[in-house]
Amino acid sequence: MREDLEKIKHQIESFEIIRPEQVEEFRLKYLSKKGELNALIEKFKLVPGEMKREIGQLLNLVKDKAKTKLTEAQSHFESKIKENKSEQTDLTLPAEKEFSGSRHPLSIVENEVIEIFKKIGFVYAEGPEIEDDWHNFSALNFPKNHPARDMQDTFFIDEEIALRTHTSSVQVRLMEKQKPPIRAIMPGRVYRNEAISARANCFFHQVEGIYIDKNVSFADLKQTLFYFVKALFGQDIKIRFRPSYFPFTEPSAEMDISCLLCKGKGCNVCKYTGWLEILGCGMIDPNVLKNCGIDPEEYSGFAFGMGIERLAMLKYEVKDLRTYFNNDVRFLNQFEGL
Ligand code: PHE
Repeated sequence: MREDLEKIKHQIESFEIIRPEQVEEFRLKYLSKKGELNALIEKFKLVPGEMKREIGQLLNLVKDKAKTKLTEAQSHFESKIKENKSEQTDLTLPAEKEFSGSRHPLSIVENEVIEIFKKIGFVYAEGPEIEDDWHNFSALNFPKNHPARDMQDTFFIDEEIALRTHTSSVQVRLMEKQKPPIRAIMPGRVYRNEAISARANCFFHQVEGIYIDKNVSFADLKQTLFYFVKALFGQDIKIRFRPSYFPFTEPSAEMDISCLLCKGKGCNVCKYTGWLEILGCGMIDPNVLKNCGIDPEEYSGFAFGMGIERLAMLKYEVKDLRTYFNNDVRFLNQFEGL
């Protein structure tokens, strides 16, 4: 009996419980009703009286050993299961939204305009925002004290220097330093002394463009701009030209596109005309070419200019110009991924 007990004690000690199912295996083998220890308890009845005390103690010791080993193994695997549960990820849960920055709508539209013109050979040009009188006005056929200067309310720094009122000043700089053919667009920020409202701001963004070569005609201007608005707003857009006046172009025109919302039927966005004005354009005045050292007898060209805020307003149905500049993330987030 003692030998049997010593043997089982040794077995219990060396029983390795590595996998969870071995816990039950262990229990069945030693501690269940039909387990080996119970069998020994039956045998214990037959132990002679004088040895009962010693063997009984040994039996209890082995039984306690087995029980401790079992509870230890049980709690070990239980805590393992708990640990795993907290680590487990539910892959069916919707992903947490990650905040990512977005481009400003004006940058999105500006980039789009640049890309569209790039495809037909227009290069990008830029110039200073603080401009002298010559580049912003005089070279562009605005004589001093000419009322046309009042068309644009200017922020003057001194008599000669102002914040540019249009990016036509960059056209002058380009014509002065480059021989035709010239084909370029010039996006940028411009400044006008206007009261801030839903429709006007003291600064805004323009894209202007010029094309100068031999035999450039108004037909080229029309087709170029028609291509551009179709690329920006869609193929079914219609255009129309209305005569207008700019000191630096002759003839001058304003171009309208068919209303994007009502498709020309008339709605409150187009004020029931079916048309939306988007840009000014014209054939570059021979005086301007001459001012910039280009011979108007040899070359002709067209120019156009438009507001990026206005394009973006039409494209994204932005109602108030001020939302572009308030930096309200609720507005800006809507352009994420564009
Ligand atoms: N410079 C004009 C403006 O700011 C736009 C324009 C550019 C018109 C070129 C005709 C030709 O309003």
